[in-house]
Amino acid sequence: MLSSNAAPSGATTMEAITDQPQLRLTGVRKTFHRDRKTVEALRDVSFEVPRGQFLSALGPSGCGKSTMLHIIGGFETATSGSVHLDGKPVTAPGRDRGMMFQQATLFPWKTVQANVAWPLLVDGWKRKHARERARELLATVGLSGFEHSYPAELSGGMRQRAALARTLGLAPDILLMDEPFGALDAQTRELMQEELTRIWQESQLTVIFITHDINEAVFLGDRVLVMGARPGRIIADVEIELDRPRGAHTKRDPKLVEYHNEFWDLIRQEAGPQPSGSRDAGETPS
Ligand SMILES: Nc1ncnc2c1ncn2[C@@H]1O[C@H](COP(=O)(O)OP(=O)(O)OP(=O)(O)O)[C@@H](O)[C@H]1O
Ligand SMILES: [Mg+2]
Repeated sequence: MLSSNAAPSGATTMEAITDQPQLRLTGVRKTFHRDRKTVEALRDVSFEVPRGQFLSALGPSGCGKSTMLHIIGGFETATSGSVHLDGKPVTAPGRDRGMMFQQATLFPWKTVQANVAWPLLVDGWKRKHARERARELLATVGLSGFEHSYPAELSGGMRQRAALARTLGLAPDILLMDEPFGALDAQTRELMQEELTRIWQESQLTVIFITHDINEAVFLGDRVLVMGARPGRIIADVEIELDRPRGAHTKRDPKLVEYHNEFWDLIRQEAGPQPSGSRDAGETPS
């Protein structure tokens, strides 16, 4: 079932003409220097993302997933290679990219509605309009009725919904999500996945979703990038052929289990035998 889509030959001619990739990474390399050692966090990472795609990036801890997302977000710069968004080089953070992290970064002293309205006010919206828009956004993520609650009064899943509403407020072109459900309990996580797939389906946003959970990557993604560690790089790039719309029924689809097993084999092969005391292949004395 694993069929690489790295080559553009799978695209129809019309797609090739009309669908300029929204995001393009070309030969991205990132090294960090620490304790007189060089860590190669990313090596030769190249891929394209068409507008509206839900791309999952899957990989073990330390394979450079966050580093890659931070480079796309403009928070880190690549050591070499380039990132282009709509044909323009990414050099700094911008409001065209919305970021979401594992822990919702809400202001604890503001109500949920005020948190969601805040970036709109900073953007110059009139208070009344920002409040109305915040209410709409909270309804979209299923938080109607909690407008006047404070973050501490919400569950972890509800805080992530509020953070998502706030991120959607500035109408980003692309949503960059770094393990946003990683801190949630298993049941809440499943519900949030179903909610996100519904919201994405309605918004048709481009999403890059980082996770180390194979089922989550497959359930959500149109496509999954599998990354290997030491050095961080792409080891597989796979279209996910599960029907849309997806929901609770998709989790029972035998094809999901097949994808899971095939990805797991790939990750296991990549990990290989790990003799104790062996040097970390990504680290070299500098
Ligand atoms: N600021 C930094 N300074 C030095 N090394 C760093 C820095 N940031 C990341 N690294 C190293 O780069 C590699 C990739 O880190 P990164 O955080 O991108 O991995 P990850 O795939 O997001 O891991 P996780 O799943 O644990 O979040 C790791 O070896 C990490 O130690
Ligand atoms: Mg990370």
